[in-house]
Amino acid sequence: MQQIPEQDGCVTIVGGGYVGLALAAYLIINGRSVVLVEADPERRHALAQGEMPIYEAGVGPVLAQAVEESALVVTGDLGRALDATRMAFIAVGTPSGAGGDPDLTAVASVVSDLRVHAKPGTVVVLKSTVPPGTTRRFAGQLRGEPFPLSVVSCPEFLREGTALQDMHSAARHVIGGDDDEAMARVAEVIGSPGTPVIMTDSTSAELIKYGSNSFLALKISFANELANFADQVGADIVQVVEGMGLDPRIGAEGMHAGLGFGGCCLPKDVRALMGAARQHATPFRSLEVAMQVNAGQRMLFTEKIRQALGGRLEGRRVAVLGLAFKAGTDDVREAPSLDVIQYLLGHGAELTAHDPCAIGKAAPVLPPHVRLTPDPYDCLSGADAVAIVTEWPEYVRLDWDRALPTMRQPVLVDGRNCLDPVAMARLGFDYHAVGRPSARSPRQPGTVTPTRVGQPREGDQ
Ligand code: UGA
Repeated sequence: MQQIPEQDGCVTIVGGGYVGLALAAYLIINGRSVVLVEADPERRHALAQGEMPIYEAGVGPVLAQAVEESALVVTGDLGRALDATRMAFIAVGTPSGAGGDPDLTAVASVVSDLRVHAKPGTVVVLKSTVPPGTTRRFAGQLRGEPFPLSVVSCPEFLREGTALQDMHSAARHVIGGDDDEAMARVAEVIGSPGTPVIMTDSTSAELIKYGSNSFLALKISFANELANFADQVGADIVQVVEGMGLDPRIGAEGMHAGLGFGGCCLPKDVRALMGAARQHATPFRSLEVAMQVNAGQRMLFTEKIRQALGGRLEGRRVAVLGLAFKAGTDDVREAPSLDVIQYLLGHGAELTAHDPCAIGKAAPVLPPHVRLTPDPYDCLSGADAVAIVTEWPEYVRLDWDRALPTMRQPVLVDGRNCLDPVAMARLGFDYHAVGRPSARSPRQPGTVTPTRVGQPREGDQ
């Protein structure tokens, strides 16, 4: 059994998911030791061998080395962890439960275990995303006999795929609670040079998290509605967003039009905020619309594929490039690919699919007759159309010239606007995107030469 390091800076993290593991790596890089409490025996076993159960850039090597150097100890025993540490981060999942409200069962269970095992002076830090008022409620439960424990809210703002980078250069740390000393201790542990720390009450901290994710979702849905309008009037959404984003009050970041938002966070947190707002009789109408637009975006994309194939999907082979909900992760939770695939299959298409990283996670949740392949060229071979569903750099760098002659038809539908329309048309593709004019190959009979859509033509400055 691994020894828990005797060190003042040693902290407990409960939950070995994306947040818990990225937090562990960040703290270890900053010179701390971590005791990771993971309930799932398989995951625990893998982690204790230094193996990552998830893909997250940069995290795996840090944790593997930390296991070797005993800076990371993995256990299923919270009591053992709390014997050695005086700060416990709760980083367990809060998935959408019935009716869209987050299921807090895992958090509640950790809180009741903490009541049993924590030592006097332990600070409990709630990293899991929870509805406004939750930290205050749990703090009430941990305030009583035999001794009071301080509970602090410290929401997480990392993005999957860039988690470590986001932690090191965070826009802000938010710490909420009513115990100044406990909050200062948390700031010391998670702070990074140059990053502002916002100290507030715990309910405001929780609402900063929900408000941030919901606003990001609104921004994406706005960009997508604008893109759909751009499609109608022949504008280029990429240039439109660039032009809008130069206004510092708007900002182009997080405003890429395409297939909409997925993953385990934005959709779940928007639903949770809508649910909480409804309970307080202040319905969040803009978020309801943002969710509707988001669902519609996936359907509009598949409709584009159908139209590009002359209005018929039946018997057509479509190559789906990308299964992860975004590039840089193997996570397929609420991924647009799942809806796109269902729709295409439902309309009689035959599917092959590729992802550089997420095939293992996608396979159990996809219908068995989707042919999954680890080779993108194999995926494209014999296809009537290729649909880009995740913006992996591998697809931008693909040797499209090599792939084109192996396809039955040169139809390319780019759901992430990640390729250059003019360059793809020049190669011979019939290129379609979201909110950008289509570009057809001058080689195809009866097609028009592409007009200028965002990228400079040869000879342009
Ligand atoms: C999101 C937030 O960005 C983080 O700040 C937050 O900490 C995290 O949720 C969380 O609550 O844990 P994440 O879900 O990892 O992070 O990913 P994002 O990069 O925000 O992307 C979310 C979805 O929106 C993806 O499906 C992505 O493809 C889509 N998206 C993102 C767009 O369609 N357009 C954009 O401009 C940006």
